[in-house]
Amino acid sequence: MTDSADQPTLDNLLSEVRTFPPSAEFAAAANAHAEMYSWASADRLEFWAEQARTLLDWDTPFTEVLDWSGAPVARWFADGRLNACYNAVDRHVAEGRGDRVALLFEGEPGDTRTLTYADLKSEVSRAANALTALGVRTGDRVAIYLPMIPEAVVAMLACARVGAIHSVVFGGFSAEALRSRIDDAQASLVITADGGYRRGKPSALKPAVDEALGGAADALGPIGDAPASPVHHVLVVRRTGQSVAWTQGRDVWWHDALAAASDVHEPVAVEAEHPLFILYTSGTTGKPKGIFHTTGGYLTQVAFTHLNVFDLKAETDVFWCTADVGWITGHSYVTYGPLINGATQVIYEGTPDTPHQGRWWEIVAKYGVTILYTAPTAIRTCMKWGDSIPAGFDLSSLRVLGSVGEPINPEAWMWYRRVIGHDRTPIVDTWWQTETGAIMITPLPGVTSTKPGSAQVPLPGIRAEVVDEMAQPVPNGSGGYLVLTEPWPSMLRGIWGDQQRFVDTYWSRFEGLYFAGDGAKKDDDGDIWLLGRVDDVMNVSGHRLSTTEIESALVSHPMVAEAAVVGATDATTGQAVVAFVILRSEYRERVDEVGEGADVAAELRNHVAKEIGPIAKPRTILVVAELPKTRSGKIMRRLLRDVAEHRTVGDVTTLADSSVMAQIATGLGGGS
Ligand code: WT7
Repeated sequence: MTDSADQPTLDNLLSEVRTFPPSAEFAAAANAHAEMYSWASADRLEFWAEQARTLLDWDTPFTEVLDWSGAPVARWFADGRLNACYNAVDRHVAEGRGDRVALLFEGEPGDTRTLTYADLKSEVSRAANALTALGVRTGDRVAIYLPMIPEAVVAMLACARVGAIHSVVFGGFSAEALRSRIDDAQASLVITADGGYRRGKPSALKPAVDEALGGAADALGPIGDAPASPVHHVLVVRRTGQSVAWTQGRDVWWHDALAAASDVHEPVAVEAEHPLFILYTSGTTGKPKGIFHTTGGYLTQVAFTHLNVFDLKAETDVFWCTADVGWITGHSYVTYGPLINGATQVIYEGTPDTPHQGRWWEIVAKYGVTILYTAPTAIRTCMKWGDSIPAGFDLSSLRVLGSVGEPINPEAWMWYRRVIGHDRTPIVDTWWQTETGAIMITPLPGVTSTKPGSAQVPLPGIRAEVVDEMAQPVPNGSGGYLVLTEPWPSMLRGIWGDQQRFVDTYWSRFEGLYFAGDGAKKDDDGDIWLLGRVDDVMNVSGHRLSTTEIESALVSHPMVAEAAVVGATDATTGQAVVAFVILRSEYRERVDEVGEGADVAAELRNHVAKEIGPIAKPRTILVVAELPKTRSGKIMRRLLRDVAEHRTVGDVTTLADSSVMAQIATGLGGGS
């Protein structure tokens, strides 16, 4: 393990005594029941089998539930066959729900679109036919690089409809990040847009695709040493109308392709274990991991959790998950969960403060949103903007509030409950990961008495534990490492192209247990409190970033000799990226001479944005002469975090050179 097990600690908060039992009224009508826990613990596999049978429509029913003989790769419902898009769309039309609204789209400029399930069926059918016409076959990989517009959901579903594996790349990622993901998955087609609206203006996307594909697509063969791009076609949605460069023969307008396609398409039934998608996430090395999920188990748990954790009543609720489809939350609780359950949901393209800081609350009031699912960082940002902003809108439709992405501090939790939920609504703090595919630890509304700051209990059918270094469960009142002790339906099936890394990362820390990478504590009631990552992974605004990945981006700049990155506690974003860099001597002299510290920081920040994306830009860059290292050469990030968080520097006795920290402290006039 690393030296960072002492990450953001919530020790002081574990004396939390406030609890909020569900109202009798809510409990009486809730989807979830306390008996679910006893049922699932009595027969876990039958519990999940029953969810799979009732929540999904199977083309070929399964007879096997779990095959764990190939551990740590699970096979759930393996002899069944189904289609994800059929379950999300066609089924509702077939069962008479075609007129129900599926998507209420709000563009950032204020344009709107409403798509019913019948509309969605015709769109996904055309898109599936268009993909087929462009040569996409079952099992092929398709990269999706789009803004938060209905086409993002349609594109994912169209892939699933033909059995192609989507790899959604967040639109905020750079051309370089897109290129490496396309290459790793060998995607043959990219779906993008001219651009999207962000902070009041069009923001281009297509140029990044052109750059990522590097002009290699026009059958010229490899340029220099670079291998030819695997991409044959780029489908381009027209969103902003901005002008785009066009590669003849490769680029195709989405609207042309769909207009030419029939709206009749037979979904391809695939095996339950057929891969549904790959989603890249940061790990502890410089190379992102292609987490892949399969179909039957993933959809089962996503549908089960969406129904019970949010208490969805599909006929009357208006669900809104604010996540982008570029993240797992958008996969599970925008595209798949809500649509499988036949929900009506809002999707919003833009930022919360465009054109004003009440935009989200205006949307809640306008559409009568009943269930809101968002991240602590957004809640804290709204807190900062002040209570008077949400107070200006009618939020009385809200009845369940959810939180995800990082530990939510009790103050933010209480603010969410009071100012947004008007002290009426249950709050569900949901712990899960890209790897887990769906919610794992959470209170159940109507069942659990909630506790501000704690994700509390594993769901029925889920087994989690907090263990010590020796893999022994810790007693109540103690802390340790969060592990999952039994396979679950929506678990990742591996890392695309690198099964060894899958085993090494998750299954080698504790024999037979899935190691999540989070520190956790059990309170006196046995409720689980998440304490943040214990590895070299940061969590900035609920987005996962790797220290190593940002370090490699920094050292790829000619000015930089060495770099160390830490996540420092930040009041709004949870953690913030703080980079310590050693410049190459030729630059160091120049900086000393002309005092260019600020320019260096700006230059390096932009470089990181270009290599990874703006979300990875360090908040602070400190130019230092030395980095604290152990005798074996490992950077002691714990000490750098002390500096970044303005604390007294901790124990330096394991440093190869114990004077380094003093040098760093004196060298730092202020940073930037
Ligand atoms: C990491 C997973 C799950 C979708 C969003 C992030 C942290 C997530 C919580 C929570 C405390 C949380 C963990 C986890 N995390 N939810 N409710 N309380 N921490 O997905 O990028 O895969 O990150 O986010 O550290 O390991 P992700």
